[in-house]
Amino acid sequence: MIIGSGGQLGSELEDYLVSLYGREKIYSSDIKKNNSNGENFILLDALNKDDIYKTIKENNIKIVYHLAAILSAKGEANPIQTWNLNMNTLFNVLELAKEKVLSKVFWPSSIAVFGPSSPRNPAKQFSIMDPTTVYGISKLAGERWCEYYNKNYSTDIRSVRFPGIISYKSLPGGGTTDYAVDIFHSAMKKEKYSCFLKEDTYLPMLYIDDALMAMHKIMEEKKSNLSISSSYNLSAMSFSPKELFESIKKYKKNFDIKYNPDYRQKIADTWPESIDDSYARNDWGWKESFNLDKMTKEIILNLKS
Ligand code: SER
Repeated sequence: MIIGSGGQLGSELEDYLVSLYGREKIYSSDIKKNNSNGENFILLDALNKDDIYKTIKENNIKIVYHLAAILSAKGEANPIQTWNLNMNTLFNVLELAKEKVLSKVFWPSSIAVFGPSSPRNPAKQFSIMDPTTVYGISKLAGERWCEYYNKNYSTDIRSVRFPGIISYKSLPGGGTTDYAVDIFHSAMKKEKYSCFLKEDTYLPMLYIDDALMAMHKIMEEKKSNLSISSSYNLSAMSFSPKELFESIKKYKKNFDIKYNPDYRQKIADTWPESIDDSYARNDWGWKESFNLDKMTKEIILNLKS
């Protein structure tokens, strides 16, 4: 079951898992119903412990991908609500894993766990972490709890620290890396894109197909091969708004951009420019298939058609 199936990751993960395992095996849930919900959709508030227990037990669900969260930029508008949602939905799932109702859980962490004192280029798996956003604080605390449950209660919670995820079918909401999705839609509409980050702000990024593959791959790996029981650094590419713009210009010659950095610049400035993900590569064979130009080509071609 996917929790947060209406989100950027969840909506695409649903199709991906259905294509691998068949419709009848995959449940999806979210706090809101939307048009794209398939069969096996369950309306669920993941903060409601009783509902989530009931749903999971009644449907004999064994594996959960818990993707519901409030992201970095949006989270700053309401820190306590963000903390409450990001942490307490996680605890509801962790407790089900502790009781062995669930056998396996995927929960995403983020590059937002790093902060101004972390090494920026690259950020190592184990480094100083002083996140400045409530989202980043909740992800770092979540990582510590995942490891705590794994070590003390023999649960099987698996996690990666996702960079900015770029997709074209589904939209992100409220993140600092969202510009890298929005920019494609402006390019297709022949609009001049107003970028909320400075042209030279490098951030680690990942194409959606690689994100789906990473989730599936870490979940399929033999548990004994996973040496990290909190969350794995993961990376594919790093680029700046200017580099992404130039990559799009190869297909959209008249596309134009202006830079109007806003409050999100301050968040981006605390995040690493690149990530050392050697643990993921060595332990479970992580390897991306998309770099910047391959991704740009794929997105432009798909949005065109
Ligand atoms: N994409 C997320 C954000 O910008 C980072 O995990 O908040």
